[in-house]
Amino acid sequence: MTSKALLAATALAALTLALPATAAELTVGFSQIGSESGWRAAETSVSKSEATKRKVTLKIADAQQKQENQIKAIRSFIAQGVDAIFLAPVVSSGWDAVLKEAKEAKIPVVLLDRDIDPSGKELYLTAVTSDSVHEGAVAGEWLAKTVAGKPCNVVELQGTVGASVATNRKKGFDGVVAKNANLKVVRSQTGDFTRAKGKEVMESFIKAEGGGKNICAVYAHNDDMMVGAIQAMKEAGLKPGKDILTVSIDAVPDIFKAIAAGEANATVELTPNMAGPALDAIMAYKVKGTVPPKWIQTESKLYTAADDPQKIYDSKKGLGY
Ligand code: AHR
Repeated sequence: MTSKALLAATALAALTLALPATAAELTVGFSQIGSESGWRAAETSVSKSEATKRKVTLKIADAQQKQENQIKAIRSFIAQGVDAIFLAPVVSSGWDAVLKEAKEAKIPVVLLDRDIDPSGKELYLTAVTSDSVHEGAVAGEWLAKTVAGKPCNVVELQGTVGASVATNRKKGFDGVVAKNANLKVVRSQTGDFTRAKGKEVMESFIKAEGGGKNICAVYAHNDDMMVGAIQAMKEAGLKPGKDILTVSIDAVPDIFKAIAAGEANATVELTPNMAGPALDAIMAYKVKGTVPPKWIQTESKLYTAADDPQKIYDSKKGLGY
């Protein structure tokens, strides 16, 4: 054997030794944002069951919506020597230092459901997310089609400030507004992806807009804020879904209940199963050395009253939402 061939054989042997033989030997640390929404609760619960299905040990750290807690959790996963780290980044900036530490420790990182700034692109292996600009555009296009050229004042409930999905869902919706002169976003404020804040902000929008008379539609970056907004509209004597149109994102069971009752009009689905594709990617990477694509995109489907909302509610309600 030549010295070159010997070197290559030694390197291959070292790599084979470093690879776990089976998925059952893998431990993944998941830095989860918290439980701000029904969708988030479902994502946590689906992640656990997807890991169990694949016999992977999943350690979940709940960051209670704080980036500093996520950074601490990642450092703790590195210290524990996990095989991979899943990260649902609460905001898009401020990850470079800690993700460099993971890279130096040779621990692959997979982003789930949210993105980080482009400066961190080399610091993670792959991202399992939807196209959140497209989600905003799907919501906007539904509204443009529904009002069919009539003037429509929209109020917008934004997600967490600095979160990639909030920035992108706004961008996608604004893109449609720019092409439809009859649509106008008259108020836009964060409701932090929670029901309570969605309700509170909607109450202030209703007060500021003639008791709701000047509002034609609400666009919320998630269903939970919309459920809060529906409550606010009802308490103000308005009929949500009729006096004021609604379109939001996630497709959680409660929005299907509202659509079935005629109190909401449309939602864009975000699958809570981000962990399944992420686990498959990490298993193939760790067990066989297969490098996944940089972006594993999930689907964004629109649902309305035409889609048998009661049936969808019944099928989804047991999934941990
Ligand atoms: O990142 C996904 C978003 O986070 C969901 O749309 C929202 O409900 C959650 O809080």
